[in-house]
Parts: sequence; structure tokens; C-alpha cells
Amino acid sequence: MRMVDLIEKKRDGGELSTEEIQFIIDGYTEGTIPDYQVSALTMAIFFQGMSEQERANLTMSMVESGDQIDLSDINGIKVDKHSTGGVGDTTTLVLGPLVAAVGVPVAKMSGRGLGHTGGTIDKLEAVDGFHVEIEKEDFIRLVNENKIAVIGQSGNLTPADKKLYALRDVTATVNSIPLIASSIMSKKIAAGADAIVLDVKTGAGAFMKSLEDSRELASAMVSIGNNVGRKTMAVISDMSQPLGYMIGNALEVKEAIDTLKGEGPEDLTELCLTLGSHMVYLAEQASTLSEAREMLIKAMNDGSALKAFKVFLESQGGNGSLVDQPEKLPQAKYKIDLPAKEAGFVSEIVADEVGTAAMLLGAGRATKESIIDLAVGLELKKKIGDEVMKGEALVTIYSNQEDIEEVKQKLYENISVTKEKVSAPTLIHEEITL
Ligand code: URA
Ligand code: CA
Repeated sequence: MRMVDLIEKKRDGGELSTEEIQFIIDGYTEGTIPDYQVSALTMAIFFQGMSEQERANLTMSMVESGDQIDLSDINGIKVDKHSTGGVGDTTTLVLGPLVAAVGVPVAKMSGRGLGHTGGTIDKLEAVDGFHVEIEKEDFIRLVNENKIAVIGQSGNLTPADKKLYALRDVTATVNSIPLIASSIMSKKIAAGADAIVLDVKTGAGAFMKSLEDSRELASAMVSIGNNVGRKTMAVISDMSQPLGYMIGNALEVKEAIDTLKGEGPEDLTELCLTLGSHMVYLAEQASTLSEAREMLIKAMNDGSALKAFKVFLESQGGNGSLVDQPEKLPQAKYKIDLPAKEAGFVSEIVADEVGTAAMLLGAGRATKESIIDLAVGLELKKKIGDEVMKGEALVTIYSNQEDIEEVKQKLYENISVTKEKVSAPTLIHEEITL
């Protein structure tokens, strides 16, 4: 096989076979096929697309390029959730304990990463003593005992994807649905999930800004998952404004605690119940979605969801009493309200820019070396559609610096208030199954 012939085939709209895709991914991972040939191929894919079969093959070749996590010693169907990324997205913190409380095994491998706030592990580390440096055997044992554990990223998962993603980043080929879908799915599958629930965000703060693009990405991932033997479904949810009220690490832990008690923000609660119901259903812990939802609501109301969170934190060295005394989480020195300049209705909260404001306070990492300030962040006091009086707080800023003019400026630029009444955006746009 010669790489040049495969590039030509794809350039002219042909379909690559299983063996051809395997040849490309193996050669690229090993370094026998150079970047410039793979660049040409990704550009050809960008214009010609990929068939369903090609997408499944590309995904599995990337899965097989590195280590795969073996979760077979964990009892039950392991369902993983993946979000395409948003701002102040506290769902993972809530969903883990929530579905664990009704018997779904949650075996999560998580990283830190860059972003507006830290990743799930950073947020959990706001809980004094909590750590994810645990042995694989302990991880498996904890999931079997408590139904939930989180371990830090280790091993060499999907090296082909790492290389390909970095190459796409500098060759203007990130934005290709088949390449994005196989990239995301390869990582989930290598991490050992039996079934996958996808939360595909749509709107200003999301990777996919239009509903049409979000739907296409969601369908692509759902097809790949099911074609390679993992039950997969997707929810398309709104990210035209941040989810919930809190954006920050300790702040989101507090928000997660409230939500696990059934006292959280309406949008965050609804999204967790929707995604959670699908997880419970795919894990075969309920025979219908409505039964699954009832189980989750009950777990919020009878304290078992919160208890699962406490047990989980303590099982990994954390101070579980924080669950009952969230005021003991790291606290910022200053709490500063951002007053509305005019009365009216909130019409826009540009999610990614507001996320950047949280990052400027120190809540997230701009570079891999940045150190996160767990205490700082933002609390939205108003969401889209809410009425606000002149001088009333739009946001409370939790800061450890006194001078936050830049943050205030950014927030004013990205939160709009109009005279006309505005309705709140739809939260759940669509659910996509095969
Ligand atoms: N996220 C990924 O993991 N891969 C992509 O290709 C795009 C977004
Ligand atoms: Ca939030």
C-alpha cells in the first residue's frame, strides 16, 4: 500500500477500506507516514467527508493505537457521559453521585486540561484531602463497593488521536464532523465505556454554534458508537448562556451539592435528570426513561444522592463533612456585586466570554503551567429572561484580587439588558438515538 494512492482515492471521493484506514493510522502512529501526507489526507476528508463505515473504522483504529482501559472486573454496564464542553458545566459533578445512588457504576478517568474553570478533578480537589492518585485495583474495588470512583489519567490512550488532533489544529482541518466525531468517540471507547451518553452543546458558548451543526455532530457520534457495539445516544442542550449559576471550582462543588439535594438551579437540575435518565436506562437499571427519572428524583429528595457524594469523597481521602458544611470550601477574599446599569430584561449572557472573565480571576488555566485558584469565580444572579432593576446585581464576583476592573468590563460587554421582555432559551433541544 502506498499512502499517496490513498490520498488520491479520498481526494477523488472514494471510500477507504478497513485495511487502508488501519494502514494509515498505524503508519502515522509509528512515524512511518509523515505529517505532510496525513495533512493532505485530512484536507481531502474535510472536503469529501467519510462514510459511516469509514468513520467506525477510523475510530477503532485510533482506539487500537494505544492502551485500552479494561473495566471488565466492574459489575454491571459501565455508562460514560461526555460533554462537548461548555461554561460552568457542573453536570459531571452532579451526575456521578446521582446515578451511582441508583446503582449505575461510574468508573471515571478524568484529566485537568485547559479552560475557563478547572476540569472535574480540579473541582473535586476543592474538597480538602481528596485525591485521584489511586491504584487501578483500588479504583475497581471502590466502583464495585460504592458505584463511583475517579482516577487520574494514566497510560497511553489513543496516541493516534493526540497526533492527529495536533496536526488538524495547524492545518485548518479541526472543523470536520467525521474527524471530530471519531476523535471524541475513540477516547470514550478506549476509556472502557460499554454505553455512552453524549451531551452535545449548542449555542454561542459551544463548539458547535448552530443547531444544525450540533445535530450533525450528535448523529455522527451516535452512529459510530452503535456501529462499534457501544449503545450510544445524544442530548443536544443549550449553551447560549452558562449552565446553572456558578462558574468556578469550589463554587461549582457547592452548586453540585445543592443540586444533589434537589435544591439546585432549574436548568442544571433538568439537564442532569435528562442525561441521568438515559444513563440509568442504558445501564439497564430501569426499564423506561420515566421510571429512571423517578428514581433519580427520589434519590435527590431522600438524601441518597448526597450520601453517595459524601461516601465517594471520603473513599478518596476527602473531607466528606463539607457536604453538610459547604461554607468550609475554599472562600474568596472579596465578594463584589456587578450592578445593572439599566433596568430591563437580561437578553444575552455570552457564555464563553463570561467563562473567560472567570479565567481572568484565576478559576481556570490559560496554559498548562497556570495554577488554579479554587476559591474564585462568578455567580450569575440573573439568567436570560430575568427582570433586573437598575443597580441590582447581575453577577457576584468572587475574587482574591481587589482590582478587577478588567473582569467587570468584560462582564458588562457580554451581558445585555433590554427594555423588551425576553423569554428564557429552550434547554433541551433534541434527543438523538439511532
Ligand atoms: N474535541 C476532540 O476531542 N476532538 C476533536 O476533534 C474536536 C473536539
Ligand atoms: Ca454552573
